[in-house]
Amino acid sequence: MKYVIANWKMQLLNNEAVKLARDLKQNIVEDENKKVVICPSFIALNQVWQEIAETDVALGSQNVWYENKGAFTGEVSLDQLQEMGVEYVIIGHSERREYNSETDIQVNAKVKKAVEKGIIPIICVGETKKERENGEAEKQVQNQVAQALQNIGMQENTKIIIAYEPVWVIGTGQAVEPEEAKKMAELIKNTLNEEVMDKFTIVYGGSVDAQNVASFMEEGLIDGVLVGGASLSLDKFLPLIENV
Ligand code: 13P
Repeated sequence: MKYVIANWKMQLLNNEAVKLARDLKQNIVEDENKKVVICPSFIALNQVWQEIAETDVALGSQNVWYENKGAFTGEVSLDQLQEMGVEYVIIGHSERREYNSETDIQVNAKVKKAVEKGIIPIICVGETKKERENGEAEKQVQNQVAQALQNIGMQENTKIIIAYEPVWVIGTGQAVEPEEAKKMAELIKNTLNEEVMDKFTIVYGGSVDAQNVASFMEEGLIDGVLVGGASLSLDKFLPLIENV
């Protein structure tokens, strides 16, 4: 199974997100070997869900809070997300780590909760430009993976996606060399516990487009992509899905 995950970030108005989901529904060629997941803003989840309900396209959210309920102004729980048809949740995106000071401890709490609730976490890890220049990229990625997965209570049907997204290529139009992404995916695999390896899927994110998407795929190593910019219009996203 190959994943094509669309992170729409805060790029679309509600009506634009709904229209894009509708257009996708009408034009997508269903393929049982590919799982397309779209992650709109919270406010668009309900309407987008209604658009894609009858399709194989799945719904994801861009964030979540790690308590079930309570006085957490401005936050959204997994129970609330499940009520909206959400099956996947992006956790620890570099933009949240940077602009919302999200920590590895919070990422870990969110991952734990998602696994407990049976929602598939898409854990984002990746080094900054500075970390890469200082020769710390590998250490940083391994550390983020290890912290995100601390004391996770794996269940029989647990699935976890780890997205390697080098922070410095996000939104630049210039992805890393596929070999580099594969090297990092290998490193992530080596960080994981052998016994639960089959629960994990690794995807690559960072300036993926229809032209370069195929070069990142490698069965059993990188089984999908997390896409920002190129998922925001049908004419970019459809060929991208096709080329996976
Ligand atoms: P771009 O595809 O726009 O580089 O964004 C990647 C990303 O951050 C997906 O989560």
